[in-house]
Amino acid sequence: MPRVFVSDFIPGDILEPLSAAASVEVWDGGGHVPAATLVEMLAGCSGWLSMLSDTIDAKLLDQVPDLDVISQMSVGVDNIDVAACREHGVAVGHTPDVLTETTADTAFALMAAAVRRLPEGEAIVRAGAWEPWDPWHFLSGDLHGSTLGIVGMGRIGQAIARRARGFAMPVLYTSRTSRQVPDAMRVGLDELLRRSDVVVVAAPLNAETRGMIGRSQLASMKETAFLVNIARGQLVDTAALVEALREGRIGGAALDVTDPEPLPPDHPLLDFSNCLVVPHIGSATVPARRSMARLAVANLVAFFRGEPMPAWLPGSAPHGTGADPASDLPTGSR
Ligand code: NAP
Ligand code: GLV
Repeated sequence: MPRVFVSDFIPGDILEPLSAAASVEVWDGGGHVPAATLVEMLAGCSGWLSMLSDTIDAKLLDQVPDLDVISQMSVGVDNIDVAACREHGVAVGHTPDVLTETTADTAFALMAAAVRRLPEGEAIVRAGAWEPWDPWHFLSGDLHGSTLGIVGMGRIGQAIARRARGFAMPVLYTSRTSRQVPDAMRVGLDELLRRSDVVVVAAPLNAETRGMIGRSQLASMKETAFLVNIARGQLVDTAALVEALREGRIGGAALDVTDPEPLPPDHPLLDFSNCLVVPHIGSATVPARRSMARLAVANLVAFFRGEPMPAWLPGSAPHGTGADPASDLPTGSR
């Protein structure tokens, strides 16, 4: 039986098909698997159900020569050197689609909370500073009818755009390829930043997108506009965002993801009442997380059966009958 290491708890009923196909060891040391322990845990394993908190690079792959397949329980794979996986003959799977609608819900929750100043209002109530109703007190802009700019019109970007229609929000988007998205107009990043009332970042983190929202991009935004990040913290230059908030150059921000993560309690981003930060919970619902775990398991089970993984990551090593025709590596080669 192949051996598989699992980096975090997976509910027993979901793990069951994998346990039937492989000898499974689940990390029970609490928290993330320390990098120094990974090599030890992966020794002799041909499969790994990884988490986005694992760093998967050539140095690690060199030390775990038995590894054939990684299935990560997330859609984002910026923690994985996919080219190195291919060079090491390691196929990679991830969990797209099953978390798309949930993450788009989170984006909308963040947008509404930030634009309508919900965290500020709640803080006032909790502080015992709620004053009698006043028609001119605690005003904000409207979310409905405001212009939404989506950076990265992929699965989640499109799910956000679908919700925007219900809020009568004109949608602008930027991505490298044009998409057929009803009622959404593709523009350059600078135009999107200049025209949007809310900018949502929904692109993957890679060498091209790292720091793509920096000082000059924030300077292009309206003074009343909000920046929402549900992708990865490193797409935004944190120091530049702190500066823009300090100088009142944007209306505010709402961040599900930050750089660094977790954000220390004394971080300057937490100094601003118009900056809402939540702890990377974009897909953190019971149904979404169970679906992600199920898909991560299904990838591994398919691999061990010699079948195409349901969510194989292009660019990683080909496998089973799902071989990448562009590949110069024979199927299953190492
Ligand atoms: P996706 O379907 O691959 O969409 C990403 C889109 O970004 C692609 O359509 C791509 O379009 C676009 N893109 C890539 N490079 C770009 C660039 N330089 N400028 C503008 N657009 C660019 O992925 P997804 O499923 O929507 O997920 C997106 C990301 O969200 C994930 O990679 C992950 O990091 C993050 N995420 C976070 C959470 C959370 O809990 N906060 C949950 C799920 C996902 P083109 O190729 O046409 O440019
Ligand atoms: C979560 O951040 C994911 O990429 O799935």
